[in-house]
Amino acid sequence: MRIILLGPPGAGKGTQAKFIAQKLAIPQISTGDILRENVKNNTELGKKAKEFINKGTLVPDTIMIELVKNRVKEEDCKNGYILDGFPRTIAQAEGLEKALGEEKIDAVLFVNVSDVVIIERLSLRRICKNCGAIYHLKYNPPQKDGECDKCGGELYQRDDDKEETIKNRLKVYREQTEPLVDYYRKKDILFEIDGEKSVEEVNKEISEILNKFLQN
Ligand code: AP5
Repeated sequence: MRIILLGPPGAGKGTQAKFIAQKLAIPQISTGDILRENVKNNTELGKKAKEFINKGTLVPDTIMIELVKNRVKEEDCKNGYILDGFPRTIAQAEGLEKALGEEKIDAVLFVNVSDVVIIERLSLRRICKNCGAIYHLKYNPPQKDGECDKCGGELYQRDDDKEETIKNRLKVYREQTEPLVDYYRKKDILFEIDGEKSVEEVNKEISEILNKFLQN
């Protein structure tokens, strides 16, 4: 299956993508993770992306389309993939379609959450430096303070999870990404999920949608 996870920052896309990747044995392609890895390694892409990420604005479409176009051609994507955080503009969606040609996106899972919830989720999010596991200090805390349950790695807070940057990311989402909801609804491949329920309930709702595809 080829799946897109759509939703505001902090909706739980990364959390759910990890579960879907395991369930369907397909890779999670998180453009945010790819960009942050490049920033960490100080690559040319990382140098370009850093200022956009830290301001909470979008990295230019041409760069992102090229990146994803190449990534989905890799061997591990032959049975499908989950795009987490891409596309984020209509231009990216069109670029993706062009790159895919005959291949089609099967489902767009739109995880919807209100602004109040987003700010609480992102300001208390912590991530493992080593394995990328996602925690929340209130809703999904690690057993030991500052330490990953899965691998013992150190937990950190993302630079763009500061309140001012979060507000800007939300504004950018409303202006540039939200129009994709209608774009995919018109194509009849959009599934809306209430992202304000617990991780397990959201998980269950997504599972039910995916199971229908697997049965066909
Ligand atoms: P990216 O990394 O994609 O960030 P985002 O879209 O803002 O999404 P997040 O990763 O912040 O949130 P999420 O929805 O994955 O939530 P999570 O599961 O972590 O992008 C970062 C930046 O990179 C962008 O601002 C941009 O600059 C650039 N970029 C990336 N892609 C781009 C593109 N295509 N084009 C241009 N620029 C691009 O959950 C959040 C928290 O909530 C966690 O603490 C989690 O434990 C908790 N949580 C999750 N679900 C629940 C639940 N159901 N109940 C309670 N808590 C929950």
